[in-house]
Amino acid sequence: MADSGRAHRRGRFITVEGSEGAGKSTHLASLVAHLEAHGIEVVSTREPGGTPLAEAIRDLLLARREETLDALAELLLMFAGRAQHLAEVIRPALAAGRWVVCDRFTDASFAYQGAGREMGHATVATLAKLVHGDLNPDLTLYLDLPRDVGLARTRRRGELDRFEVENAAFFDRVRQGYLDLAAAEPERIQTLDASGDLDTVRAGVIAAIDAFLARTQGQGA
Ligand code: TMP
Repeated sequence: MADSGRAHRRGRFITVEGSEGAGKSTHLASLVAHLEAHGIEVVSTREPGGTPLAEAIRDLLLARREETLDALAELLLMFAGRAQHLAEVIRPALAAGRWVVCDRFTDASFAYQGAGREMGHATVATLAKLVHGDLNPDLTLYLDLPRDVGLARTRRRGELDRFEVENAAFFDRVRQGYLDLAAAEPERIQTLDASGDLDTVRAGVIAAIDAFLARTQGQGA
């Protein structure tokens, strides 16, 4: 994925991924604050969601109900929300020179639907090409956590959504899915061990973003 659509935009696109309970939201907030302290205008958003319509799709995806959501329907809903989010938020922000920091993006579809639901990499790749073939993250931070540590943290937080009630084998496939993506694209996807205390993980996040800023400035952006 060498072409991230840089020729058509000025802002940078950073995504944060992680297992359940990896502390994504906390680290995302530090990351945004750090970029802003460098004078960078940042749009902070999330998936599924990011626009009123895509947030309504998020509600559909996360709600537990009697009817089982078919795996293909789940995947298509993820990409329907993403198409809307790209059109309304991500592409306009990048075109205006803002940086976009997004809590999850298509790597989550590869990990959760491709690997977790066993839909396969190729199916997800087909949709990714259709929906945003020319636009991929410039940097992705993957907060990695052993399955049981993450699930214990999530379960302490209270009511569980439709993904959080999945079994251990599902989360093992999701984690392996992320590790495979990171192995395939080591430059874009930086894996950070999220099992340490908050300050240690935050230091890793800031170091990764500083290295990215140094590279970006080196490119004259
Ligand atoms: P969150 O926990 O980051 O708020 O995300 C909600 C859930 O959505 C999480 O369990 C991961 C899942 N998800 C997918 O399954 N596929 C996707 O493409 C995205 C963006 C999220």
